[in-house]
Amino acid sequence: NSPLRIGIAGLGTVGAGVVKLLAEHGRLLSVRAGRPFKVVAVSARSKAKKRDIDLSGMRWEKDPMALATAPDIDVVVELIGGSGGVARRLVQKALASGKHVVTANKALLALHGTELAALAEKKQRNLAFEAAVAGGIPIIKALREGLAGNRVKRLYGILNGTCNYILTTMRETGRDFDVVLAEAQAAGYAEADPTFDVDGIDAAHKLAVLTGAAFGAKVDFAGVHVEGIRRVTSMDIEFAQELGYRIKLLGLARETRYGIEQRVHPCMVPLDTPIAHIEGVFNAVVVEGDFVGTTMFQGRGAGQGPTASAVVADLVDVARGRHMPAFVVPAEKLATKKASPMDRHV
Ligand code: NDP
Ligand code: HSE
Repeated sequence: NSPLRIGIAGLGTVGAGVVKLLAEHGRLLSVRAGRPFKVVAVSARSKAKKRDIDLSGMRWEKDPMALATAPDIDVVVELIGGSGGVARRLVQKALASGKHVVTANKALLALHGTELAALAEKKQRNLAFEAAVAGGIPIIKALREGLAGNRVKRLYGILNGTCNYILTTMRETGRDFDVVLAEAQAAGYAEADPTFDVDGIDAAHKLAVLTGAAFGAKVDFAGVHVEGIRRVTSMDIEFAQELGYRIKLLGLARETRYGIEQRVHPCMVPLDTPIAHIEGVFNAVVVEGDFVGTTMFQGRGAGQGPTASAVVADLVDVARGRHMPAFVVPAEKLATKKASPMDRHV
């Protein structure tokens, strides 16, 4: 069978992980997908950078945009990041040129997901983004496949690994916020600009994407009420513990009479609930469907291995020839509503 020909833009934490995973599991993947995977070309900012990955046999493209139009590429994997600039242009051009796109870029999808999904549909190509939400947890697949029979009433969860790592480590060790944030950066969990993590913006990007996938609503980042963890002190964490709570940064979306309410903020979570015990870089997503009831998904929310695992799952779908609409908007479109800052219960 003909190989799936892949072009990868971005060879940082996630891109390098994808190259490693494809090299290590090449044979297994070709059996599972029914055809081999071949990384034809790669691109990043610096060719000279030492990366601890084997790039032999792969063409180096100085300009990532070249991947979008290369005739020997079937799918472009965008792992550069950022909501505009080169990432947006690359995804647009790749879809317009008839390539499938796999991306981990939640910032891009939160701001331009609806428009990019429309372009993908027009071209009948996949715009796949399992890695963009909750790292290694296959939550997008769960919503589209396992829970497809349900109307989702509410979902909530821990959507940022860096914040959960910081809150957990501050509680366990009493170390300062800045020191723990530096550890999360060194581990490859944090965004290029870590204020996106600690100010709740990354969680809000993911929530907007999740809302789009779960409720069939327009991806509406501007409609998310956002607060981060910057003002949470070790003393707050200690007092919460004494009162029987953990402080967690949660993202929540639910149906209301007025539309979908979306919010991200620190919450006091009772110690007798499972989500209180999701610690460190782990994420969790609770989904409440009208027929299934409550389901909970958990796993590592950031880092090289989990994120590469999610990217490759999307590549397997493309290799199998499964067309997956990026966001399915039902005839009955749901409005989105900005949550009131006073509305803080889970
Ligand atoms: P990194 O900063 O580690 O890597 C970014 C890569 O993009 C680098 O290889 C860099 O090149 C390359 N790059 C940057 N600008 C350009 C440009 N203008 N042209 C070509 N290449 C460029 O980021 P991550 O791997 O951590 O993240 C990538 C994406 O995955 C982001 O969208 C992020 O939000 C998302 N993500 C990250 C997760 C994580 O745990 N890290 C988890 C889930 C999603 P060079 O190496 O030469 O500097
Ligand atoms: N910076 C993100 C996090 C990466 O910490 O969750 C995973 O999306």
